[in-house]
Amino acid sequence: MSYDKNAEDIVTNLSNNMHIDDIVDSALSNPNRRRLMASGAGAAALSFIGLTGCSDSDSPAPAPAAPAPATPPITKATALGFPAISKSLADSVIVPPGYQASVLFRLGDPMNAATPAYLNDGTDTAASFANRAGDHHDAIQFFGMTAAGAYDPNGSDRGLLVQNHEAITPAFLHPNGPTIVSGVRTVNEEVLKELNVHGVSIIEVVRSGNSWTYVRNSVYNRRITTNTDTIISGPAAGAAMITAYSTDGTRTRGTVNNCAHGYTPWGTYLACEENYAGYFRRVAATDNVNRTPKELTSFARNGISGNGREGWATAVATVPGDTTFSRWNTEKRGSSTDGRDDFRNVANTYGWNVEIDPFNATSVPRKRTAMGRFAHEGAWPAKVEAGKPLVFYMGDDSRGEYIYKYVSEANWDPADATRGLAAGDKYLDAGKLYVARFNADSTGDWLELRFGVGAVTSTNITFAFANQADVLINSRLAADAIGATKMDRPEWGAVDPFNGSVYMTLTNNNSTLRTLANADAANPRFYNDPRTTGTAQRGNPNGHIIRWVEVSANPAATLFGWDIFLFGSRSTQDMRTVNLSGLTAANDFSAPDGLWFGRNGILWIQTDDGAYTDVTNCMLLAAIPGTVRDGATVTVANTDGTTTRNVTTYVGAQLGETKLRRFLVGPKDCEITGITETGDGKAIFVNIQHPGEDTSPASFAARTFNSNWPDGGTSRPRSATIVITRTDGGVIGV
Ligand code: FEO
Ligand code: CA
Ligand code: CA
Ligand code: CA
Repeated sequence: MSYDKNAEDIVTNLSNNMHIDDIVDSALSNPNRRRLMASGAGAAALSFIGLTGCSDSDSPAPAPAAPAPATPPITKATALGFPAISKSLADSVIVPPGYQASVLFRLGDPMNAATPAYLNDGTDTAASFANRAGDHHDAIQFFGMTAAGAYDPNGSDRGLLVQNHEAITPAFLHPNGPTIVSGVRTVNEEVLKELNVHGVSIIEVVRSGNSWTYVRNSVYNRRITTNTDTIISGPAAGAAMITAYSTDGTRTRGTVNNCAHGYTPWGTYLACEENYAGYFRRVAATDNVNRTPKELTSFARNGISGNGREGWATAVATVPGDTTFSRWNTEKRGSSTDGRDDFRNVANTYGWNVEIDPFNATSVPRKRTAMGRFAHEGAWPAKVEAGKPLVFYMGDDSRGEYIYKYVSEANWDPADATRGLAAGDKYLDAGKLYVARFNADSTGDWLELRFGVGAVTSTNITFAFANQADVLINSRLAADAIGATKMDRPEWGAVDPFNGSVYMTLTNNNSTLRTLANADAANPRFYNDPRTTGTAQRGNPNGHIIRWVEVSANPAATLFGWDIFLFGSRSTQDMRTVNLSGLTAANDFSAPDGLWFGRNGILWIQTDDGAYTDVTNCMLLAAIPGTVRDGATVTVANTDGTTTRNVTTYVGAQLGETKLRRFLVGPKDCEITGITETGDGKAIFVNIQHPGEDTSPASFAARTFNSNWPDGGTSRPRSATIVITRTDGGVIGV
């Protein structure tokens, strides 16, 4: 493999002997030390700004910079240029003075000229959603575009906005909410609408002066739904994916529960399938007897059992042979030996990263199985370098799940930047999948998930892996076997465009799924967050943000050093045990979820919270981070009210109000998720997800919704994309 010719492996072989200070020095803090190590070890991995003379002889000649979204800007932000806004329970979007937020693209907005305006009373047709915005706007990516329609990562006046429509608030989609009779969905039009509301949307957006609109009739506008024909690509395609839809296991229909995302240097989008498992119907009482013990282990580990969260499989098609609804039933019902006469294997075709080329409206999305299968939150690229593997960091969003990374087998060739999905075939279908172990001494190891390595073998007692496809389909079981570290629910990641450090939110955990006894250095707190109602919220209800550096700043390395960048907390909590980051009224938050580095190095933090919502709606904050291990070693005296247990961890330097401020607060019941910017940093696009979602059935019946955002009056609330600009047209945040 060409990959092995590079010197990365030499560097990573140093791993277990290195002290945390050496790891951090090699990556971040000491240029002289970096030079010494680079020459001594023949390290090709160092690519710091101003330190480009260290390539080894196997590396290709320096190539022109690839057009990559992570290309740093000229100037790194050193201060935040806006006053912090207050927490809020108002039903509105609040931004600092000097900024303006406009609604750009709401649930149901038409995406071509033939589709009428959204009535928003539940009567808009299912079919019309083939050309309307979906619901629950989540991750979003701006792809700048040239006048000729090519990808331009520096573009700022015109581009394609690609975003996920993660889920639905069913009540608001139908005249009187979903019709369910004795557990059965009896109105097919309602189910068809829900199938079309999920997925991904692509719209063209244009700037005019300081404002933005979407182009309603653009040839690029496109919806991808749960019904869109999709290719299964990479090592896991084949036998385990066979369904009545694809008897060779190379295709499936569409994508669902797309949460966060990724993007590639060749201008494609990765829609990541998060909580796919809950959509499938598999009644254990009747299906288990038809399954092998191995299948049952896989179903249990991935959470595939139950009636299906929206009950889609209970609808009955009117046309014989139409499997639109029955494909959501993953029970074994046919008599074939391989599954070609039912959908027993259909759940295996979900839980992947799905690559979409927004610049080619007729292209078929591809599920990239080499990147593993779990509740994929997102896939964030490390810094891109010619001649080196591409690396993507990924989280599995469930309590107690893991952090992964993918390292491509092929080394990056900038000539591939215009090859679209063909480049995806090259870089995303062959590579190594790793999972993270966070050690108590602030070092960490990337453990490869490879058939035959460690306990990932055919003789594993819990799950007898058959081959690498089996490992990829059952990534969680492989990660269990290899000894990964359970985390407090990984959400978004983000890579510092200046130094390559990786940040990842751990949104929260509760006392049932992570006990006091199970607190560890990387998930160190156990406390009670005191709601005004007095209800105890024990565990880590406010979450934290972990970060790491790879040894020698080599994204493909197998050794890293970590600390905890920031702890969520009420500002009023104890500063020795809970509010370890010293948050104040200007920047306190809970449940970090979305995370995004601007090209100027500002780290944007979004919340999806249910703990601090007695005081404030969800929010967006801006931070100027320091570096890994810039803070202190702290021993936290955790307590569950009766027992105390000390845990030692590593807390990043406190940022104070100068380097961490609240920038935006959203409307009632919303989650703030998804953020992207134009090439010049003068506009950011932010998603407001599910305002008013906690409206009770009684309030819905009375048409008194918790939120009427964004349309106001007595309207049903709508998820929406907003665009934020400065009134003076300047760069956001500084
Ligand atoms: Fe869909 Fe991980 O939040
Ligand atoms: Ca999320
Ligand atoms: Ca979340
Ligand atoms: Ca959500």
